[in-house]
Amino acid sequence: MLGEDVRVMRVDSILFLRAFGTHHGVLRGDSQRPAWYDPSMQTDPLTAAPTAGELKATAIEAARHAGAILLEHARNGFRIEHKDAVNLVTDADRRAEQAIVTLIRRRYPSHRLLAEEGGLREETESPYQWVIDPLDGTTNFAHGYPAYCVSIGLQLQGRAILGAVFDPTREELYVAEAGGGAFLNGAPIHVSRAPSLNASLLVTGFAYDIRESSNNNLDHFSRFALRTQGLRRTGTAALDLCYVAAGRFDGFWELKLHPWDTAAGALIVVEAGGRVTDFKGGPFSIYNQEIVASNGFIHDAMLAVLRGR
Ligand code: IPD
Ligand code: CA
Ligand code: CA
Repeated sequence: MLGEDVRVMRVDSILFLRAFGTHHGVLRGDSQRPAWYDPSMQTDPLTAAPTAGELKATAIEAARHAGAILLEHARNGFRIEHKDAVNLVTDADRRAEQAIVTLIRRRYPSHRLLAEEGGLREETESPYQWVIDPLDGTTNFAHGYPAYCVSIGLQLQGRAILGAVFDPTREELYVAEAGGGAFLNGAPIHVSRAPSLNASLLVTGFAYDIRESSNNNLDHFSRFALRTQGLRRTGTAALDLCYVAAGRFDGFWELKLHPWDTAAGALIVVEAGGRVTDFKGGPFSIYNQEIVASNGFIHDAMLAVLRGR
């Protein structure tokens, strides 16, 4: 049993090297590899471990497959269940999640998986953790409002290394790797240059406990409404983050999000040149209750409004 654990850890640390080695073009032990070895290959010929390229391809394949399942349900129907008065789940969420989990498990059986509908599965010692929202924007989806996406993030020892968000209604795929920039359908994206709140279009959202909790973001919403060019509430936090990355929004904030809402999008914003923090300007974690993401220029002004100024 112990031997098995050690084997898993060893394979994962090889993956660590592959993921980072290929990314930065530095491969430890390259001298032992055949001359024809190409770091962009999907599998290392010496270790048979997956490379950063394969991890990315897997995230994209899973996101596209789940997106196709969502569209199929949008066209042909789905069943809605109520988690509570305002929080819904559909069989589309569940089928999309199952498809993602099945693919990742098949390729990387030792990796940890944290997915919205199934929670943390098969807790292992792996330093890799996939963080999955199979349908971000379930309320929109259930109403036939075409603003939703699939969000898949990958963390290595708690640090985001990969994010993929797919909007199947617009066929828009956002991808970022740590240190490698952010892309929309393969083209580089960058945050906006809006210099002030006055010139900014912001976006936010509200948690499902909006009726029960007084910490429900309505206070921040009213203050931002009086200081910005406009505010939107799209109902899909992962896409909100991608829109900040693409310069369509200048900033985003929200309370009480879950790891699967932000794991991919927060990396995509950073890789597009933006800034992501908590409400005090401290480091962001997907386990935080607070997120502020912006083009950087308006970040301090957003933090001031969130402090009540
Ligand atoms: C929700 C959306 C929404 C946000 C909520 C989230 P779900 O995720 O991201 O924009 O305001 O807080 O829970 O439930 O549609 O996956
Ligand atoms: Ca979500
Ligand atoms: Ca969801």
